[in-house]
Formats: sequence, C-alpha cells, structure tokens
Amino acid sequence: MEREDGWMRLNNKVVLITGAAGGQGRKEALLSAAEGGIVIATDVNVQALETLEAELLQVSDKGHMTMIHDISKEIDWQRIMSEIKERFGRIDVLINNAGIIGKVESYHNTTIEEFRRVMETNVWGTYLGMRTVVLAMKEQQSGSIINVSSIASMVGLGLSPYGASKGAVRSMTKSAAGDFAKYNVRVNAVLPGFIETEMIKDQLEQEQVHNWYMDKTPLRRIGSTDDVAPAVVFLASDESQFITGSEIVIDGGVTAI
Ligand SMILES: NC(=O)c1ccc[n+]([C@@H]2O[C@H](COP(=O)([O-])OP(=O)(O)OC[C@H]3O[C@@H](n4cnc5c(N)ncnc54)[C@H](O)[C@@H]3O)[C@@H](O)[C@H]2O)c1
Repeated sequence: MEREDGWMRLNNKVVLITGAAGGQGRKEALLSAAEGGIVIATDVNVQALETLEAELLQVSDKGHMTMIHDISKEIDWQRIMSEIKERFGRIDVLINNAGIIGKVESYHNTTIEEFRRVMETNVWGTYLGMRTVVLAMKEQQSGSIINVSSIASMVGLGLSPYGASKGAVRSMTKSAAGDFAKYNVRVNAVLPGFIETEMIKDQLEQEQVHNWYMDKTPLRRIGSTDDVAPAVVFLASDESQFITGSEIVIDGGVTAI
C-alpha cells in the first residue's frame, strides 16, 4: 500500500522468497512487489515460475527475477546468492517458505526415506537458506529472515515427519535470532494453520477431513493465502524492527483452545 508521501512497506528492499510458485509463496511474492519490494522468486516448479514472472511484472517493473532453486541443495543456494549479489549487490529479506508435507502417516508407518525427504526439504532447506544468506546480511549489518513453520510444530495433527520438521524450524528460528542479532539481522517465524493451497488440497476435498478442519477452527473457516502474506510482509518490513525470535500463529484459533 502506498501512502500519500510515497512510503511503502518494502520500498526497494531486495526480497528472496523460496517456494514462490506455490500458494502462499506466490501471494507473498505479489504482496512484496505491491509493497515496493524487488522480488527474487524461486522454486522447483518451472512452469508456475513463468506464470509468476508475468504476474510480478504486472505489479511493478523493478527488475524482479524468478530462478529455479532446490532449497535442499547447498550448491543451488550458492548459485542464487551469487546471482543476487551480482545483480543487486545486497539482500534485505529472506522468506524461507518452500516446504513439503510428505506422506501423512503415523511414525510406525513412515519409512526412513520418507522421513529423510521431509527433513531434507523443510529443515535442511531452511538451515541452508539462513546459513547462506546471513553472510551477506552480516556484511550489510541488516536483514530480516522469516521462516515458515506450522501449527503442526505445536500439536500432533497426525503429521509425524512434517510436525517434527516444522518443530525444528521453530527452534532454529529462536537460536538464529539470538545469534544474528549482533549483525542487526532479525529472524522470525510464522505458524500457519489450515491454509487452502495445493499442499492440503487432497485433504480438503475429502468431506470428512474438511469438516474436521472446520470443527477444529474457532473462526469457522479454512485459512487463505491472504491471511498469511500480510503477516510475512510485516515481519519483512522495518515496521517490525524490534521484533526478533518471535512467532505469529495464523490459524483462526485452532491452537488457542
Ligand atoms: N497449506 C497449509 O495448510 C500450511 C500450513 C502450515 C504451514 N504451511 C507451510 O507453508 C509453506 C508454503 O506451503 P503452501 O501451503 O503454499 O504449499 P504449496 O504446495 O502450494 O507450495 C509449496 C511450494 O514449495 C515448492 N517446493 C517444494 N519442495 C521444494 C524444494 N526442494 N525447493 C524449492 N521449492 C520447493 C513447491 O514447488 C511449491 O511451489 C510450506 O513451508 C508449508 O509447509 C502450509
């Protein structure tokens, strides 16, 4: 939103968003651009990235970029960061959004390979992102990192590897906030509840599961990507400059009762 004096939440901040071709990431990318940011949107989904690139250009013409990027690969992080440094010379915001839910199974029915796959994406990917990007932020002595956890880190929900991975994301957020504060780099997390995206589409299509989600949610609706993106952009902006190591739960009250 632009004020009369031209102020916008992310005025010319360089914002890297992973998993940006998916439901929440796409909305965060478009809102960041609308708030004056320069967006680097990355994902493994090439086709959806192409669509997003065109959408970003419609919001503003600030030199937004889309890049193919597997967050679980260190080499990809190094490539992305060197391109960002070359093109923009800085990075102000990292939104560690990409993630997978994996198979919804109880621990004794989860294979070691499946557990590892979820961990490698959600935990390893978030760790590699913070570890790579903080070096540039340290040089600048400024930056904001937002990690996307989940309410599955607070309550069981029958999501065994996923919940464990998102618990690790919360924990890493706290320790990184303490570590990086001396570089003026903030680290916060958002914990969405049930948000209507591709990730839980199959579950929402099952009437019984849909009703279970509704019953669990005091605000009596499934969350939308519009419920999450503004909180992420707030944490990215200087409006939250005294907030670090915090968590914003966006779940319509699921974990409040
Ligand atoms: N939808 C929900 O109910 C919900 C709830 C809580 C938290 N979350 C979290 O929100 C984040 C965004 O998920 P979403 O709901 O938009 O789901 P989504 O499936 O629509 O988007 C996830 C995106 O991540 C990308 N991705 C997957 N693996 C990747 C990898 N290795 N490298 C790069 N990109 C990769 C996918 O291609 C996809 O575009 C995830 O971290 C997810 O765990 C989702």
